[in-house]
Amino acid sequence: WAVHAADVEAILDLKRERNAVILAHNYQTPEIFHCVSDIVGDSLALAREAQTVDADVIMLAGVHFMAETAKLLNPAKTVLVPDLRAGCSLAESITAQDVRDLRSQHPGVPVVTYVNTSAAVKAESDICCTSGNAVRVIESLGVDRVIMIPDEFLAQNIARQTGVEVITWAGHCEVHERFTPQDIRQLRVDHPDAVVLAHPECPPDVVAEADTSGSTAQMLDFVVTRRPSTVALITECSMSDNIAAQHPEIDFVRPCNLCPHMKRSSLAKIRAGLESLTHEVTIEPDVADRARRAVERMLAV
Ligand code: 13P
Ligand code: SF4
Repeated sequence: WAVHAADVEAILDLKRERNAVILAHNYQTPEIFHCVSDIVGDSLALAREAQTVDADVIMLAGVHFMAETAKLLNPAKTVLVPDLRAGCSLAESITAQDVRDLRSQHPGVPVVTYVNTSAAVKAESDICCTSGNAVRVIESLGVDRVIMIPDEFLAQNIARQTGVEVITWAGHCEVHERFTPQDIRQLRVDHPDAVVLAHPECPPDVVAEADTSGSTAQMLDFVVTRRPSTVALITECSMSDNIAAQHPEIDFVRPCNLCPHMKRSSLAKIRAGLESLTHEVTIEPDVADRARRAVERMLAV
């Protein structure tokens, strides 16, 4: 704690001076999540909260696509990210030209784009989704076939839940693709009482071995409302750390994988960013207008 105390105090002062808020994703480390953030949540909650934030500066403690979404919804505000290199293997797997090519291969099929993408890719899309609302978004379209990009596993998992046929793209989350069905089977041998929750970015055969699946906010909601005595969250490591800090009575089994992009954030970088207002996220206006439409359409569902 002594290592972090000076940074935490400086960040709290800077938030007041700059009229800034910190939005943090559930995968941020506990000292960011618990000590300096104003709003925490999954990708959907961060997008929703970004719509109503009352501040001049938004520091998005997360990865670049999350900060871009906050900027889309707040074009007049300064949106910062702790480290501009905080990418995402899903966002990097697909370009705007790839989406245009998919459209010409499948004319008339709507494009549903996971928020884990660049603004340029969102700009080519009909509607966005997150892991928390993908089922609702797909069902809202009332069609029997969609192009769902770029997460192949999320698309396959959602296809199972909705019965809608999905045309997929071969993007994967480098964190969740590493889990295997054998990991879950071994976990059940070692911890027979554990309730197993898998993120839908995991391969479908991993989700099939779990008790249930959901976004990071849905995982948190499950733990807080059902209060299992032992739980395993098949996702990024900080997720369990953050919940465990508030629920010492629950035993967390932690077969986690780290996201190197989320881990580019630190208190020191948040402090430096707020001091100098650096690592600002900008989006070309024409791209922003088209991308915003896809995000707002999602938020209206
Ligand atoms: P959610 O928090 O929306 O479940 O997303 C997980 C994720 O991988 C974000 O990068
Ligand atoms: Fe991207 Fe996966 Fe990291 Fe989320 S956990 S930011 S999907 S690489």
